[in-house]
Amino acid sequence: VAIVGATGLVGRTLLQVLEERRFPLRELRLLASERSREKSLPFRGEQTAIEELSKERIKNLDIAFFATDAAISREFVPLTAGDGALVIDNSSAFRLEAGFPLVVPEVNGEEIFNHQRVIANPNCSTIQLVVVLAPLQRHFGLKRVIVSTYQSVSGSGQKGLDQFFAEVKGEHVIAPFYPYPIFGNCLPQIGAFDEDGYSEEEVKIMAETKKILGLPELPITATAVRVPVPYCHCESANVQLQLDFNLQEVRQVLAEAPGVVLVDGLTYPIPQQARGRDGVFVGRLRRDPSVERGINLWIVADNLRKGAATNAVQIAEVWIQEKERWEKLNR
Ligand SMILES: NC(=O)c1ccc[n+]([C@@H]2O[C@H](COP(=O)([O-])OP(=O)(O)OC[C@H]3O[C@@H](n4cnc5c(N)ncnc54)[C@H](OP(=O)(O)O)[C@@H]3O)[C@@H](O)[C@H]2O)c1
Repeated sequence: VAIVGATGLVGRTLLQVLEERRFPLRELRLLASERSREKSLPFRGEQTAIEELSKERIKNLDIAFFATDAAISREFVPLTAGDGALVIDNSSAFRLEAGFPLVVPEVNGEEIFNHQRVIANPNCSTIQLVVVLAPLQRHFGLKRVIVSTYQSVSGSGQKGLDQFFAEVKGEHVIAPFYPYPIFGNCLPQIGAFDEDGYSEEEVKIMAETKKILGLPELPITATAVRVPVPYCHCESANVQLQLDFNLQEVRQVLAEAPGVVLVDGLTYPIPQQARGRDGVFVGRLRRDPSVERGINLWIVADNLRKGAATNAVQIAEVWIQEKERWEKLNR
């Protein structure tokens, strides 16, 4: 097994999740840029050396987790899969391409068996949204979705976190990652704007949600905002349903939905409680009086765990189980 981009925020969380879940692997290869050549990271009680990513080092793998940017994935993912490995890619490179499943196991796990050795891991904001929307779709049908995100700085990778903590300490930031200070601020821009005025993140959330839910015509609009919080993304979702509902029914559906943790009533989900956990926390359930069959929800999850590393490892686990079952049947 390899982690490409092992030194990054997602890569290091992958290491942690693989160790915690006792992922069945014989050897772990850690790859990153030439900047990390002298470094090592702990895994199962031992320091594992980081190697520089190269065409040679992605050979003879069973599974490769990519946690690098889309340009690196575009170059190295096809080579890795071409050599026979299953690749789970955290970048946006293949997410919307036909023939590349985009998977959240609780929602469309069956897609895991429908690939050419490359499975795309969705955007972090999309994952936590669809884990909540899928059970609502199954029980009541979705008519329209309006989502506004409050995304932590770790969603931008190490550079975002570095700028945030430097500003918290009052240090001068020489090469800031964000166009404005992030500490004490909110930035309604995540990625470049398109000709319609939507940011890249907003476009990803809308398109990926439709693909994962298998609802290409779903009316959905998104506003993505970066907020001065280190870890975990929050979302306010305003959802119009097809069927009548009462709030108690919705609570029950969500309480029983895989991956969802209902925190509703006198308390509500917050980033500091979601940090380090794998659930998608949902609360603040309210009927929206301004529209028929409308409901408001507040959704919080750890962007580095369920929003990235945990989801990727869950995909690999399902794939391994199915492969073993298939091999047993054919023995
Ligand atoms: N952060 C999140 O919440 C999140 C959630 C979902 C998906 N993602 C996606 O996951 C990917 C990784 O994000 P991140 O937040 O972990 O970013 P990050 O903290 O900036 O880490 C980037 C990683 O890529 C490596 N890298 C950079 N240039 C390289 C090169 N030329 N060759 C090999 N490796 C190279 C870095 O290695 P060095 O340390 O050696 O530079 C580092 O390990 C991105 O595609 C991102 O969009 C992120």
